[in-house]
Amino acid sequence: MYLEEIYRTTTSGVTLLLCAFALLLLALRGRQRGPGCSFPPGPRPWPLVGNLFQIGEQIHLSLTNLRVQYGDVFQMQMGSLVVVVLSGYSTIKEALVRQGEAFAGRPDLFTFSAVANGTSMTFSEKYGEAWVLHKKICRNALRTFSQAEPRDSSASCLLEERICTEAMEMVEALKEQGEKVGDSGLDPVKLLVTSVANVVCTLCFGKRYAHNDKEFLTIVHINNEVLRLFAAGNLADFFPIFRYLPSPSLRKMVQYIGRMNSFMERNIREHLVTFDRNCIRDITDALIAMCEDRQEDEETAMLSNSQIVHSVIDIFGAGFDTIITGLQWSLLYLIKFPDIQAKILQEIDNQVGMNRFPQFKDKPNMPYTEAFIFEVFRHASYMPFTIPHCTTENITLNGYFIPKDTCVFINQYQVNHDMDIWGDPEAFRPERFLTLSGHLNKNVTEKVMIFGMGIRRCLGDSFARLEMFVFLTTLLHRLHIENIPGQELDLSSTFGLTMKPRPFRIKISPRN
Ligand code: HEM
Ligand SMILES: *[C@@H]1O[C@H](CO)[C@@H](O)[C@H](O)[C@H]1NC(C)=O
Ligand SMILES: *[C@@H]1O[C@H](CO)[C@@H](O)[C@H](O)[C@H]1NC(C)=O
Ligand SMILES: *[C@@H]1O[C@H](CO)[C@@H](O)[C@H](O)[C@H]1NC(C)=O
Repeated sequence: MYLEEIYRTTTSGVTLLLCAFALLLLALRGRQRGPGCSFPPGPRPWPLVGNLFQIGEQIHLSLTNLRVQYGDVFQMQMGSLVVVVLSGYSTIKEALVRQGEAFAGRPDLFTFSAVANGTSMTFSEKYGEAWVLHKKICRNALRTFSQAEPRDSSASCLLEERICTEAMEMVEALKEQGEKVGDSGLDPVKLLVTSVANVVCTLCFGKRYAHNDKEFLTIVHINNEVLRLFAAGNLADFFPIFRYLPSPSLRKMVQYIGRMNSFMERNIREHLVTFDRNCIRDITDALIAMCEDRQEDEETAMLSNSQIVHSVIDIFGAGFDTIITGLQWSLLYLIKFPDIQAKILQEIDNQVGMNRFPQFKDKPNMPYTEAFIFEVFRHASYMPFTIPHCTTENITLNGYFIPKDTCVFINQYQVNHDMDIWGDPEAFRPERFLTLSGHLNKNVTEKVMIFGMGIRRCLGDSFARLEMFVFLTTLLHRLHIENIPGQELDLSSTFGLTMKPRPFRIKISPRN
């Protein structure tokens, strides 16, 4: 509903503004091409708007098509901003891994600064020593805390305890509701959202919420809206003029961010008051402890305490919408392809049996299920681009010159649908990841691009895979899910930072 409204306001805004501010935009248009340098090729920009209207709504598809014509490194103009688009597995690897530092920046986009207000590790720090340290601290906090001893169960670590508990609760709730609705089925999203959000909430803030808690639902909703507004391709990023005009959508976004931040701030303040270094309750405590431990003259003095403690916001924000979306897609594929679901069930019955629930330790023994998750990542490619990057120095890639401070989009969707890598990219076929003897083939799984690569790679990658594994296997362990009569299952999606499937209902019945 908001999305439509935003779309309407921004599109009508475009038409209006194009006339009124033509001159201004002209003045703000991208940099000049220097003679003698080989800039990347690309479609001819129109005056004022650049290539914005040539790329349409499904940006990942049109940029994938442009690659056929212009190659792995091409350049576009989005409003006033020059964007270099990278495709192709080896080109992207060359850029993000071998020349990693040169591509490790984040552009100074308006939406980024609106979200992060200068303290975010993910969005708003200049690449450099301080940032590297900040990412290390986040990684440590996440690792230390998720591997901590569980409180009251036989799980191998706290992360496992949290994930398994939430997954079991979700299954119970699904079962109960499924029995009530019968053949008409139910939309699983609401239950998924609360369960997955609760995992990250207990890890970050040590508390979980009831499935109908008002405050919690508000925060979850806001986070989704912010992420939706915040895809690569936001007009305010490309037409500076949008930042200064009264725009209802932008105002809403800034409002949302304000409410989100005050929820976080409140939690952080509570933690500061009740902090006890002998009892680290969650990631927030772990971060506070790191601040207390450090000496003034140490290298960590580069970061303020507030920056460190605010890392929890990065982890919270990144850690649930991505996983919920992955689970939504997984359920859709499971009911679309019942024979694939049957193979996963077989593996669950062989490896887990009926006397216990699935655990982390089962994952390496269940290659087909892992292959299924990889195939969901690949086929849906629901993060078609990484978060935008930015060059930190003048750099040459594939023979093309890219100046410092150029915004760079990484087309993950293209890699996941590259004919040369996959042969039949449009087919949904988990077997493509298995060797003849039925093991996972690392040579193939590493070609799936969904977490980015190199210095800016996602921090939560193994966390996310474990969580998706446990949620899916726990669900299938207890419940049979299928399509409802007459429902057409559509695998298309709408563009965004994370792309959601169209809503669908599932019919649930208990197994055995
Ligand atoms: C299936 C789930 C997930 C997917 C598909 C995903 C994907 C991504 C992608 C594409 C990026 C951007 C990489 C780049 O800019 O090149 C990213 C960054 C990040 N992710 Fe994830 N992510 C997932 C789950 C998580 C979880 C669970 C956490 C935390 C617990 C997390 C934390 C982060 C952080 C902190 C960054 C910023 C890294 C940086 O800027 O250097 N992610 N993720
Ligand atoms: C953003 O940061 C500035 C200081 O850098 C601070 O005064 C302001 O309150 C912050 N705004 C929000 C919404 O956190
Ligand atoms: C980067 O390239 C530009 C030309 O586009 C040049 O003016 C500038 O001096 C170069 N900067 C560095 C640090 O080499
Ligand atoms: C993976 O690639 C390596 C090096 O190219 C090769 O030696 C190995 O046999 C491959 N493994 C599989 C399972 O195909």
